[in-house]
Amino acid sequence: MHATLQQLRLFEAVARLGSVTRAAGEANLTQPAVSIQLKRLEEQAGMALFDQVGRRLLLTAAGRELLSASQNILREMAELGDALESLRGEIAGPVRVSAVTTATYFMPHLLGEFVRRHPKVQPILTVTNRSNILNRLENRQDDVYIMGQVPEHLDVSDKPFLENVLVVAAHPSHPLTGAKRVKLADLARERILVREPGSGTRQAIDRLLFEHGLEITPYMELGSGEAIKQGVMAGLGLAVLSRQSLALEIASGRVAVIDCEPFPLRRPWNAVYPRSGNQPLAVRTFLEFLAAESARVIKGTEAAPSAKPKADATMGDNR
Ligand code: PGA
Repeated sequence: MHATLQQLRLFEAVARLGSVTRAAGEANLTQPAVSIQLKRLEEQAGMALFDQVGRRLLLTAAGRELLSASQNILREMAELGDALESLRGEIAGPVRVSAVTTATYFMPHLLGEFVRRHPKVQPILTVTNRSNILNRLENRQDDVYIMGQVPEHLDVSDKPFLENVLVVAAHPSHPLTGAKRVKLADLARERILVREPGSGTRQAIDRLLFEHGLEITPYMELGSGEAIKQGVMAGLGLAVLSRQSLALEIASGRVAVIDCEPFPLRRPWNAVYPRSGNQPLAVRTFLEFLAAESARVIKGTEAAPSAKPKADATMGDNR
C-alpha cells in the first residue's frame, strides 16, 4: 500500500475529530484538499475507511486497522525527529503541553520564560478540563500534561512543581466575608457556583464534601473558572477557586476570600508524562525547568505592580 505521511496525518485527524471540515481546519487546509487525500487513501486500501453516520464520520473495520498503523508510524516519525535533535544536542523542536483550565493563570508565563531561555523550542499549549486532559494522555497526544491529581490508573510519572491554593471566593459584601472560621456545613447551605463535572477543581470539592458527609445542590454550574469568577463578582453566589486565578480581583477588592475551615486547600500542580518512551531533550529540559524554576518565575509575575495584592483584600490565613 502506498500512502504518504501527509495522508496518514490527515486520516488520523479526521478519525480523531470525526469530521473532514474540522481536520481541514486543524491542518490549515481546505475541505476539498483533505477529501481528495482521503479518497486516494481509500483507493489504496481498496475499501471504505469511514461510514457517514448523521454528521459524524465513523471508522470502518479497515479504517480502524489503518488508524492503529498510522498512529504507530506517526509516533515513530515524531520520535525519530526528536531523537535526531537530541543527538545534535540541541534544545529545540516542539514541546507539547496540555494543561487543565485553571493552569491558564501560570502556564503561559512558564512557557514564555522557557522559550526566552531556549528560543528554538516551539511550545504548543492546549488548555481544556481534566477529563479531556486524561483522554489526551491516554492517546499520548502531548509530551507533558499539567493537572492537580495524578491519575492512578495510567502508567505515568509525575513531578510536582507549584502549589494550587483553593479558596472560597465571595462578593465583598457577602455576609460571610466578615465571619471567622466559617464551618463547611454552613458554607454548604449557601448558593454555590460550581465547575462542570469533568473539572479537577469540582472533583476536589466534591471529594472534600463527601469526606465531611456533606452534599450541596449547586446553585449554578458553569463551564469555566472565568465565568464562575464573574458570577462571584456579580454576587450570584460563592465559589471555590484557585487563588492564582483571583490575584487581580482580590488585589482590586472585587473579590473577598471567606475564612472557612478546612480552606485554603493546598494541592500540588503536577507535570505528568508517560513512564515509557524516550523523551526528547527539549521535553526533559522543560520538565527540569518546571521543577527548578516555576516558583521563582511565578513569584516574579505576581510581584509586578499591577498584580500586587492589597493587604486588606484577603482575610485570615487565606492570603
Ligand atoms: P480544572 O482542573 O481546571 O479542570 O478544574 C484543576 C485540577 O486538576 O486541579
